[in-house]
Amino acid sequence: MMMFLAGFGILLVAFLAVAVRLWRGKPSGMNLPPGSLGWPYIGETLQMYSQNPNVFFASKQTRYGNIFKTHILGCPCIMIASPEAARFVLVNQAHLFKPTFPKSKERMIGPQALFFHQGDYHARLRKLVQRSFLPEAIRSIVPDIESLALRALDSWEGNTINTFQEMKRYAFQVALLSIFGPDEVFDREDLKQSYYVVEKGYNSMPINLPGTLFNKAMKARKHLSEILTQIIAARRANGKVMNKDLLGSLMQSKDGNLQALTDEQIADNIIGVIFAAQDTTASVLTWIVKYLRDHPSFLQAVTTEQEAIRRAKDSDGHLTWEDTKNMPLTCRVIQETLRMATILSFTFREAVQDVEYKGYLIPKGWKVMPLFRNLHHSPEFFPDPQKFDPTRFEVPPKPNTFMPFGSGAHSCPGNELAKLEMLILVHHMTTKFRWDIVGTGSGIQYCPFPVPKDGLPIKINRKKCVHGLC
Ligand code: HEM
Repeated sequence: MMMFLAGFGILLVAFLAVAVRLWRGKPSGMNLPPGSLGWPYIGETLQMYSQNPNVFFASKQTRYGNIFKTHILGCPCIMIASPEAARFVLVNQAHLFKPTFPKSKERMIGPQALFFHQGDYHARLRKLVQRSFLPEAIRSIVPDIESLALRALDSWEGNTINTFQEMKRYAFQVALLSIFGPDEVFDREDLKQSYYVVEKGYNSMPINLPGTLFNKAMKARKHLSEILTQIIAARRANGKVMNKDLLGSLMQSKDGNLQALTDEQIADNIIGVIFAAQDTTASVLTWIVKYLRDHPSFLQAVTTEQEAIRRAKDSDGHLTWEDTKNMPLTCRVIQETLRMATILSFTFREAVQDVEYKGYLIPKGWKVMPLFRNLHHSPEFFPDPQKFDPTRFEVPPKPNTFMPFGSGAHSCPGNELAKLEMLILVHHMTTKFRWDIVGTGSGIQYCPFPVPKDGLPIKINRKKCVHGLC
């Protein structure tokens, strides 16, 4: 009898435990979205990598619809591929979803950088970062960006170059210019060298043992912080704190009762911005060079638009901010490149509590991934999505279907600068140079953003002067 009662008691406790878990996990009877979670722990990671991740997500969407679950990289995830769901997560209910990154990346960039935060600290930093990338702030650096573009193009003339690597160099210089202004930083070779080491370790295995790339990168990261602290101290000493560039903005952060940012907070955010600015812009520029070469009619149309701007100037006339606002076709080429290449296929968030979306449960702690690529390649929103056709942007896309710079609280504060530096480079490249792709130009590699294989080697030459245009 005693045995029977004990057995019954154990069964009852087990039943109650299961009931409580189910009740907690499924508030008001909600179900998880459709999909499959694969094997314990590894989930569907192998399937994702055995195909191209973009093919994996597209086939899941075809099978399960616009919201589905999976389990990748050790995490249960909800994928979303409808404009409304993307808006729900990134904009309307953004407070329910926090940004999430691997700890090793946080340590490498700097844990106090704005990407990793939400709430008051994020809002404060975002204001400081945004104000140095507003049109009013960046219009004054058009001549400096132009001289960086001209210097880069001159150095490429007559050579075969790795387009992606050269675009990285250009985007890096523009990022430093917007952060430190034109005078301060171009002679800081130590800063550049340390940054290159950090960059190399960023995508390596996070094994912090002597000799590993990760270990070297962490040491270089420490050195980078020291260099930035010196630059900040020098600015304080010579009274240049009031500059309009990003460093100036971060240094003028004292606001009412809020203490000024510490040097460490400033350094984390500067390194974060360099990371956010360089490979993104360089990948898009590389795709522009490829798409224009592959579509001679658009290359001709862009060249005609840019030559009209050159013709209206003296032979050595410089580009102005107003000129860059008068390049509609080139802007559409950039938009179409951002859509076709969708260099950020998705972003990551994490539910901070159980969330209901359209009757489905998004459990607390699960990752949520808005799939930008699936939106940008949906035939419903972009007919014939694999075709490069900048004219499709003559009509604005439907709301929340085109978000190459994200949306909502964490959307890209550098988007105006990115577009500006692309327009300036394309202006001089199309009016003064011609280029041919070396090799087949086919194939994609991930660095980690998608770029044409081998960085798109091109042979680039100066055009002959015709009617004073060269
Ligand atoms: C074509 C080039 C670029 C693309 C496609 C791009 C794309 C994006 C996207 C999609 C996000 C949002 C990520 C998310 O919601 O999780 C983002 C955030 C960000 N981007 Fe960009 N970006 C580009 C260039 C730049 C540049 C040039 C800068 C700075 C000068 C920059 C600085 C940032 C920063 C600081 C954030 C984080 C904002 C926050 O968390 O509040 N980006 N970018």
